[in-house]
Amino acid sequence: MKHHDLIFSGAHVVSGGVTQLIDLAIQGEKISALGATGTLGSAKKIYDVTGKYIIPGAIDVHVHFREPGYSYKEDWHTGTQAAAMGGVTTIFEMPNTSPPTRSTVELSEKKALAKKACVDFGIYGLLGEDNLDELDGLISEGANAFKCFMGNTFGNLPSPSTGAMLEGFEKIAQTGLRISLHAETASIMALRQKKLEEAGKNAPLHHLDARPEVVAIEAVSRAAVLAEWTGARIHVLHISSAGELRPLNEAKVRGVDITGETCPCYLYLDTSDYKRLGSIIRVNPPVRTKGDSEEIWKALNNGTIDMISTDHAPHTAAEKMKRNIWEADCGFPGVETQMPLMLTAVNNGKISLEHYVKVSSENPARAFGLWPQKGIISVGAHADITVVDMQKKEIIKAANLHSRGKITPFENFETTGAPIHTVVRGRFVQRDRQICKNSKGHGKQVTDIQKMPPARPINSEHAIEHVLKK
Ligand code: DOR
Ligand code: ZN
Repeated sequence: MKHHDLIFSGAHVVSGGVTQLIDLAIQGEKISALGATGTLGSAKKIYDVTGKYIIPGAIDVHVHFREPGYSYKEDWHTGTQAAAMGGVTTIFEMPNTSPPTRSTVELSEKKALAKKACVDFGIYGLLGEDNLDELDGLISEGANAFKCFMGNTFGNLPSPSTGAMLEGFEKIAQTGLRISLHAETASIMALRQKKLEEAGKNAPLHHLDARPEVVAIEAVSRAAVLAEWTGARIHVLHISSAGELRPLNEAKVRGVDITGETCPCYLYLDTSDYKRLGSIIRVNPPVRTKGDSEEIWKALNNGTIDMISTDHAPHTAAEKMKRNIWEADCGFPGVETQMPLMLTAVNNGKISLEHYVKVSSENPARAFGLWPQKGIISVGAHADITVVDMQKKEIIKAANLHSRGKITPFENFETTGAPIHTVVRGRFVQRDRQICKNSKGHGKQVTDIQKMPPARPINSEHAIEHVLKK
């Protein structure tokens, strides 16, 4: 009989669309065996987790950890501690730090800062208006994906013109790396906001008026055309509207390699919450109507939306609590509360646990080239495991969050279902709702396992030539 480092015994293991009552063994950084209870052999430590569920750790491809530049809002240690508490074993971190991750220099600085991470990570490089010459450097320095801010948000990075986007897409397509889009069209919003501000309109709901859903519909459609032309793989971040589902779906039908995500705030909140939450609810893109959130739930369940992420965007309470909506910072922390909120949805019958595993772990792993080392529970895969207690009740309190962002629209929200242990490559980083002491620095950049084959244009001159030659 084999000897393992540890065995989890008695839990339901959920992965790849099935739930099985089996034991799970870990040796070193990997899953070493799966099988009927009591059949896996011996281990240095056996954890009886009868009645619990084991799922592949969540992979959140959209977090802002703020370092360098704004570490008073968050840093790589606090941010990844929040992830570990939230059952998240891999995160992808966004480039709107100060300085932004726009060239080799900033990427190598960020890699050094990320050495204190508790969970595994990818790092985004920026695809901006004025750094096209830096893309090669970012690629060779190990950017794991690219971020394109088609609309303005925190950091005020200028949105690239369509011309710059096309150049960038062409270049990045050759690597196969995915380009994540903040898909809101800057020029529409700038004019709308200016008019509203000039008219003295500065209440929370005016933020939504400045960003009607056409900003997302136009941006998703335009990006999909560029992706189709170049073969670039793209990902639509934080889907907030019913309207943008149509261009997303149409692009998928045309064969564009496009994925989409939504976040808990667009599932749980709507326009009826603006009065109660005031400027706390301000986020880009904005929370929209109840009808939007119903359509987003449907799209998450039917596969139009591929994954759930958080847009974890911590700010201080003072930065959020401005009376004038245009002065309040956008976004809020989310990496720690996503799983409890979504498990609550599982308990309420809004989504199955199997499908939650798909959208929180398997699909992001596949879309960003980490599968089958991550996003799956199978022998030989990374032991990135979250043990879940589906009965555990908690109340979200910003003061208790491990993020530095101590303000959330989910304050006092009651959740049922919580990640009680988080294991990253075989090591506990969270145990019994406490951060483990030796978790700092355990996180590793995913570059060595990431595989993104070069992308193939489906509608460019190049593709047409290829067809003609046949
Ligand atoms: O509300 C937001 N805040 N949306 C974003 O896209 C960026 C984020 C931030 O960095 O604060
Ligand atoms: Zn974001």
